Amino acid sequence: LATDYEAENGVCQGTIDSNHSGYSGTGFCNTDNAVGAAVEWTVNAAAAGNVAISVRYANGTTVDRPADISVNGTVVAAAKSFAGTGAWTTWTNVTLNVGLVAGSNKVRLAATTANGAANIDRLSVDAPSDTQAPTI
Ligand code: GCU
Ligand code: CA
Repeated sequence: LATDYEAENGVCQGTIDSNHSGYSGTGFCNTDNAVGAAVEWTVNAAAAGNVAISVRYANGTTVDRPADISVNGTVVAAAKSFAGTGAWTTWTNVTLNVGLVAGSNKVRLAATTANGAANIDRLSVDAPSDTQAPTI
């Protein structure tokens, strides 16, 4: 069972907007269109382990909006692709496996191009499972 962390409850380097429908919660993070523009969430894990995390996003352009994904300061997925979704109202997920420590973890997504990140709706974190192999 996944736990959802809305972008509007994280740290959004940009604005929390609600002008493109289909987001969950009260809005999404429209990051500044700049290299390094980031969204960061604090994720609490009951136990250390590898978990699947998903970032729900929309990218209404035809140009990829890659972002580095880091956990506790270490990049675990460099320039992860956030490809165009066809419209700013069309949302989809990027999923990867990461290792979390027990307790508080910082999960950060930082744009690697001057276009900034895609619009970011939320982070979902699966419950820990010892059977999942990390991709990092
Ligand atoms: C448009 C769109 C924003 C988006 C921005 C961008 O302004 O309305 O939601 O963030 O483009 O290109 O980043
Ligand atoms: Ca933007």
